[in-house]
Amino acid sequence: MNQIWVDKFRPQTFDQIIGQDNFVKRVKAFIESKNLPHLLFAGAPGTGKTTTALVVARELYGEHGIKGNFLELNASDDRGIDVIRNQIKEFAKLKSLANIPYKVICLDEADSLTKDAQQALRRTMEKYSSSCRFILACNEISKILDPIQSRCVIFKFKGLTKDALVTILDKIEAEETLKFDDGVKEYLAEISKGDVRKLQNTLQAAASINFNITKDGINEIIDFVNPKEVEEMVDLAREGKFEKSRDLMIKLRSIRGLSGLEILKEIYRVILKLDVDPKLKIKFIDKLASVEFRLVEGSDEELQLEAYLATLALLK
Ligand SMILES: Nc1ncnc2c1ncn2[C@@H]1O[C@H](COP(=O)(O)OP(=O)(O)OP(=O)(O)O)[C@@H](O)[C@H]1O
Ligand SMILES: [Mg+2]
Repeated sequence: MNQIWVDKFRPQTFDQIIGQDNFVKRVKAFIESKNLPHLLFAGAPGTGKTTTALVVARELYGEHGIKGNFLELNASDDRGIDVIRNQIKEFAKLKSLANIPYKVICLDEADSLTKDAQQALRRTMEKYSSSCRFILACNEISKILDPIQSRCVIFKFKGLTKDALVTILDKIEAEETLKFDDGVKEYLAEISKGDVRKLQNTLQAAASINFNITKDGINEIIDFVNPKEVEEMVDLAREGKFEKSRDLMIKLRSIRGLSGLEILKEIYRVILKLDVDPKLKIKFIDKLASVEFRLVEGSDEELQLEAYLATLALLK
């Protein structure tokens, strides 16, 4: 189980986007007319906003044309609106090489921008509107300034219905070796509350423990953090069972929502209690401190944690 299912099962075409037929039809029509307005995708997490923006780019430019014609930015980038504006400027400056006379900029989490930053964004949108189309994505449309809203065609994404979520589970079942107990798909769909990301992450975590998916198995995943899990993750890593250990780490992050630093804190507790040569213990802790330093500096959390799990197996 090497790939995260959220990525593995991310729709690549409009046909693969489940349960949002209404939007898909409207967005498709814009693309066919080659006349794309600015779009504002608003709504609950894990409902397909970013996914739809990516499909729009793929449909317009083809897989190979995406690079150079599509720019993905995250508005919650804490380097601020000036960095974002500069990136947009640099990107818009180069001529589009595709047949389409404009490029597409997707700005995720646009609702995290302050009012002032949104004013700046609005001016930027105006300045580049002849050469760029913007797709803004946000959770809360009420946080987006009216003058920005009025420049966009708005799509309000709702949580997926239970039926749509079960369809997604059927697809995953067809591609992975999984066996669902009766009624468990419906149960998982119910507790995911319309959020596909939550649905896929919960299922992947349950499947990493047991490919037979039961209601108890799911409940175990969505329970509160169990310190035993961190212990188990450390033990698995030390036994050289890297993949299993990593699956658990992913579960702690994606399902329980623990941050990298929170996981490190738990690992520290486990290591203090380990019954090993004190010299080895010191090596474990020393390494942990350098991983912590890198996380605070903003390195990729998953990569750093993976590296640490690998270290646990290697240090002797
Ligand atoms: N309508 C859908 N059909 C099939 N899969 C979906 C759908 N919506 C989301 N997914 C799956 O869920 C994952 C997360 O979706 P996506 O990133 O598009 O959510 P989002 O709406 O942008 O959420 P956020 O508000 O958190 O940014 C995707 O990678 C994909 O696997
Ligand atoms: Mg998104």
